[in-house]
Amino acid sequence: PEFISVSNLADVIGVRPAQFVQRMEEMGFEEITYRDVLDAETAGLVAAEFNYEAIFDSGKADLHAAPELEDTSDLPSRPPVVTIMGHVDHGKTTILDWLRKSSVAASEHGGITQHIGAFSVMMPSGKAITFLDTPGHSAFLEMRRRGADVTDIVVLVVAADDSVKPQTIEAIKHATQAKVPVIVAISKIDKEGSNLDRVKGDLSVHGIHVEDYGGDVQAIGVSGKTGQGMVELEEAIVALSEMLDHRAATTCNVEGWVIEASTKSYGRAASALIRRGTLRPGDIIVAGTAWARVRTLRNEAGVTISEATPGMPVEIDGWREQPGAGTELLQAPNEQKAKDVVDYRMERSDTQKMGVDMVAINEARRDLL
Ligand code: GTP
Ligand code: MG
Repeated sequence: PEFISVSNLADVIGVRPAQFVQRMEEMGFEEITYRDVLDAETAGLVAAEFNYEAIFDSGKADLHAAPELEDTSDLPSRPPVVTIMGHVDHGKTTILDWLRKSSVAASEHGGITQHIGAFSVMMPSGKAITFLDTPGHSAFLEMRRRGADVTDIVVLVVAADDSVKPQTIEAIKHATQAKVPVIVAISKIDKEGSNLDRVKGDLSVHGIHVEDYGGDVQAIGVSGKTGQGMVELEEAIVALSEMLDHRAATTCNVEGWVIEASTKSYGRAASALIRRGTLRPGDIIVAGTAWARVRTLRNEAGVTISEATPGMPVEIDGWREQPGAGTELLQAPNEQKAKDVVDYRMERSDTQKMGVDMVAINEARRDLL
């Protein structure tokens, strides 16, 4: 359902809130305050009293993601998306670098990894894992804000010599809210002053109960410096992802998320993570109020690829405008539809700026007043 607050509705209609509330009371509403929220039907009734017609915007002009399937067991497997989180300086990048270097994919391309916000690691078993780089960055938070859980697994990095710190707690909060399973990597175990028990105890205080501490969260001591424990960490991620068994349709319309946008020598580019469908050059996509006819797809090594499938990080160029980090990416059937959707969204965001939440008010009627 769609809702609007009393103060927003008064604002749109252009009536002072006090006067607006008074009129509502005359209509028979009781104990109304500016902050009350009206459903679409009630808002329509009240708007009509002021000679306005409320349009219930069902969003038909927009593109929408397909509803989630209940049974995905027949769909193809996709790589899990793993996010590394943790306090500043606790060794996140060092762990990611180690994973990247050990990856078959990286060695094939001479290990030159471009920064596209996400990268794929090929496990010795032949399974790929997608890692989201620089987590906690704006795109990730933006996606979380929209309720999108792009991450399947969080690797929580806690330094063995420093234990739980404010951003560790923050990361635990994000993972818990998003209901994402956690693997703990206790990092820097090569350092003097390492104390794994202290870390485990501190974690349990914050709701992460690891294996020897009465819980079932795996905690693995690692050093991104010496490589100690890193294979175990990889194995733990693979084992958990096999258990979670992520699958996604590859033949439907493309859906995904923009991770980062940047300007490259070849033009506007955006790195994205495909959630469903198969993206190919020539496809038309919309992300927020930007659209693209996909020109080139590149992997994180900068190598041109012919298609991108679910769970795969990819860089896309061909954008007419720069898309925003964290916006949802959806396929449009043709350029005209993409342009219409962008126009529609721009108009809509204008009305939202005016303070209309979900109910748009008919401008034509307004002129009659
Ligand atoms: P931010 O991105 O700033 O939050 O830091 P980070 O979590 O990515 O940490 P980073 O990997 O950059 O490591 C921070 C410092 O710790 C660097 O000086 C690393 O060399 C050092 N470091 C990281 N991992 C290890 C480790 O396993 N052992 C030792 N001895 N030092 C490490
Ligand atoms: Mg870092």
